[in-house]
Amino acid sequence: MRKTEEAYRAGKRRAIGVSTFYPGRLIDLCNFVEVAHAVNQVETHAFRQQRSAHETMVKYGVQHESWGPFAEGRKDFFSNPALCETGAKYGKSSAQTTLRFLLQTSVVVMAKTVRRERMEENLNVFDFSLSDEDMRSISALDEGGEHIFLPLRCRRGRVLDRAGIIKAEEEAYRYDDCRGKQAVRRQRRHSALL
Ligand SMILES: NC(=O)c1ccc[n+]([C@@H]2O[C@H](COP(=O)([O-])OP(=O)(O)OC[C@H]3O[C@@H](n4cnc5c(N)ncnc54)[C@H](OP(=O)(O)O)[C@@H]3O)[C@@H](O)[C@H]2O)c1
Repeated sequence: MRKTEEAYRAGKRRAIGVSTFYPGRLIDLCNFVEVAHAVNQVETHAFRQQRSAHETMVKYGVQHESWGPFAEGRKDFFSNPALCETGAKYGKSSAQTTLRFLLQTSVVVMAKTVRRERMEENLNVFDFSLSDEDMRSISALDEGGEHIFLPLRCRRGRVLDRAGIIKAEEEAYRYDDCRGKQAVRRQRRHSALL
C-alpha cells in the first residue's frame, strides 16, 4: 500500500483503488492510508446489491464499482422475470436493465463481454431511466449476503464454485505446509554451510 502511495505521489499513478474490501476492511484502510482511495470494486449485481457496503463507501468517499454486474450469468440472470419484464417496458434487455439499475444507485459498472454487439448493447443504457417502482422491484431481488462466488482462484487461474474453493483451500494448506517444511530444510542446509 505504501509503495502504491509513493507511486501516486511520484505521478506514476493517477488514482489508487482496491477490490473486494468489505466494510470492516475498508474502514480500516481509509483510516490508515495517506492517499484517499478512489474506488473499491465489489461483487455487486441484482442478487447482491451490497447496500451496507455501499453506504460505507459513500461515507468514506470511495466510489463503489461493481464487478460481475451480471452475476456472471448465474442463477438464470439474463432470463430473470423481474429484469426482463422491467426492461421490456423500455425496449431494453435484462442486461441493460440491470446496468441501468446499478447506475441509478450510483454504482459504477464494469461489465465484461467478448462480443462487439453486446459491448454496444451494454453501453446503450443512457437513453432511459427506471421509475421508482421499477427500482423497487429490482431492489427486491437482493438476497443479501456478500457474494455468490468468492473471488478465489486456484493456482491454475480457474474460477471455482464453493465446493471447488473448499478443495482448493485444503490443497493450499497442504501446499503451504509442504513449502513450510521445505523452507525449514533449506534453512537447515543454509545454516550447515555457514
Ligand atoms: N476485482 C475483482 O476481484 C474481480 C473479480 C471478478 C471479475 N472482475 C472483473 O469484472 C468484470 C466483469 O465480471 P465478470 O466477467 O466476472 O462477470 P459479468 O460481467 O457479470 O458477466 C460476464 C458474462 O456475461 C456475458 N454477457 C455480457 N454482456 C451480455 C449481454 N448483454 N447479454 C448476455 N450476456 C452478456 C458474458 O458473455 P460474453 O463474453 O460471451 O458476451 C460473460 O459470460 C471483468 O472485467 C472482470 O475482470 C473483477
